[in-house]
Amino acid sequence: MDQLLQQIEQYKQEISSVVPDGAEALEAYRIRFLGTKGIVKGLFAEMKNVPGDQKKEFGQVLNDFKQLAEGKYEDWKNSLGGAATGKSAAIDLSLPGDALPLGTHHPITLVRDQIVHIFGRLGFSVAEGPEIEDDWHNFTALNLPENHPARDMQDTFYINQNPDWLLRTHTSSVQARTMEKQKPPIRIICPGRVYRNETISARAHCFFHQTEGLYVDENVSFADLKQTLYFFVQELFGKDVKIRFRPSYFPFTEPSAEMDINCRICGGSGCAVCKHTGWVEILGSGMVHPKMLDNFGIDSNKYTGFAFGMGIERICQLKYRINDLRLYSQNDVRFLKQFTGAV
Ligand code: PHE
Repeated sequence: MDQLLQQIEQYKQEISSVVPDGAEALEAYRIRFLGTKGIVKGLFAEMKNVPGDQKKEFGQVLNDFKQLAEGKYEDWKNSLGGAATGKSAAIDLSLPGDALPLGTHHPITLVRDQIVHIFGRLGFSVAEGPEIEDDWHNFTALNLPENHPARDMQDTFYINQNPDWLLRTHTSSVQARTMEKQKPPIRIICPGRVYRNETISARAHCFFHQTEGLYVDENVSFADLKQTLYFFVQELFGKDVKIRFRPSYFPFTEPSAEMDINCRICGGSGCAVCKHTGWVEILGSGMVHPKMLDNFGIDSNKYTGFAFGMGIERICQLKYRINDLRLYSQNDVRFLKQFTGAV
């Protein structure tokens, strides 16, 4: 035991006299003192030969020695780390932090927010519903009974049949859900993602975004519909925008109309986007079919309403001249980072 203590004393002196040198000398030191076959391990192995009553004292000395050997190693290593990078090993708190790259809003989000804001000013609140819908809310309640040919207007992804579960083809399903719960006056818009089974190309995608709207109250007329939608496009595209309505058909509105605006790309002179007509369709609309109101226990003799629905991608295309629908979902940063500010 005394011999061991003496030896430890010698090692201590050796350690304190070592002058830290380069990485190689450090590694040699580590192997000699701290390696798996090194001095510290070796001394611990001697423990079993120390008489029982001296084990405690020896253990203490050994632990102190181990800490000394390790401490030397850490200090040495830190001093080398600093030298290698040419900086002090201590953290320089005066340095500026790493800048976090900030993302940008997706153009669909920007346009959706603006649509929500404009209608918000007219008293419309946002309503939401599930993307996986049942047949009733997506079709039947909207005056599209089974086998109705108008169901083919929207190619549907079915998740389950009998009972039918599907990916909603429009956010009119949210209008249905709202009328189920709420009595007039109702003034909502329903932004959200919708799905249709279409081959993906520059002009079609299997999913896109809509904002639909619904207004039900006493004395709501087609003039209200027209004025509301005219105000909306003026706010969105500028006061110079022109509109026109064309008669159309939707099972849940009667009469129905599609609304066009003069092409924002060519200004009306004719281009590929407006198919050389000078006009671009931006939404479907109409007076809520009385049968729909009755489906939800709303007295169609007392109340009337209008509804409309638009594709956000189309509005975005006209605002930003985006000519390929696929760009919206490819997540290409070169495309996305162009949309930095408010619309
Ligand atoms: N739901 C229709 C569509 O997706 C749009 C629409 C909504 C038309 C409300 C009229 C009234 O095509």
